[in-house]
Amino acid sequence: MAAKIIDGKKIAELTRADIAARAAQLEAQSGVKPGLAVIIVGDNPASQVYVRNKKKACEQAGMYSVVIEMPGDTTQEALMKQIEALKTDDKIHGILVQLPLPAHLDEDAVIAAIPPEKDVDAFHPVNTGKIMIGDYDFLPCTPAGVMKLLEHEGIEIAGKECVVVGRSNIVGKPQAMLLLHANGTVTVCHSRTKNLADVTRRADILVVAIGKANFITGDMIKPGAVVIDVGMNRLENKKLCGDVDFASCSEVAGAITPVPGGVGPMTITMLLENTLTAAKKAIGKNL
Ligand code: GUN
Repeated sequence: MAAKIIDGKKIAELTRADIAARAAQLEAQSGVKPGLAVIIVGDNPASQVYVRNKKKACEQAGMYSVVIEMPGDTTQEALMKQIEALKTDDKIHGILVQLPLPAHLDEDAVIAAIPPEKDVDAFHPVNTGKIMIGDYDFLPCTPAGVMKLLEHEGIEIAGKECVVVGRSNIVGKPQAMLLLHANGTVTVCHSRTKNLADVTRRADILVVAIGKANFITGDMIKPGAVVIDVGMNRLENKKLCGDVDFASCSEVAGAITPVPGGVGPMTITMLLENTLTAAKKAIGKNL
């Protein structure tokens, strides 16, 4: 039986409309428009597209947005200075430095320089620590988007076998933590996992973020499983595809996200949510 296709584009639209309404309400009550600054260093074409989309989404949600473009040979010192200036800018509630950075820059130091209360990526060690203990202000956008999709679809997590394929700091690790907070029984797989298919076949909920095109095939999933594909791979023929082989998995899964149109639209949506949260917290602090 063919799986239900989880329409991330539609769910993102509904969520963004709700965020826009709450942003307008905040502005009406306080005169404060949530503001996001995005720093991009160099001319990575994929990053440029992501940054453009973030700015557009902000504006459509009635938020203030600036993009700071810095050349590829920017020094660590110059980048730190730019972050420093945004730290004290009252119009800016969220600061995001688009990754990856050019190799000569120290990514960890840059992330640590963003004040935790403006860290709308939730990459700062203070925010990752808060996620670990389940007492957080911000969630990293992609795992938060996955949780929102599951919630919107009414998919229960408590007591379910949840398998996360991938252990990155941005997706795999925080995703596992969020599923654990929701009372799932969570297993994390990675490149050194033995008999990976035996593990993925146990999953009631399978989240795949491994960065390998069409890696998970229909024989690796349990009939009826919920399959969430975080992958975004560009094939040689320029077509986008996920980490999950949609053709074979959609014949076996109970529900599945497509690529594009699944998790992707939710990521920027959750960035808007975090920017709104940062603005609210900033006002609360200043009152
Ligand atoms: N590059 C790819 N995804 C992301 C993200 O979520 N945040 C940042 N800052 N850079 C990225």
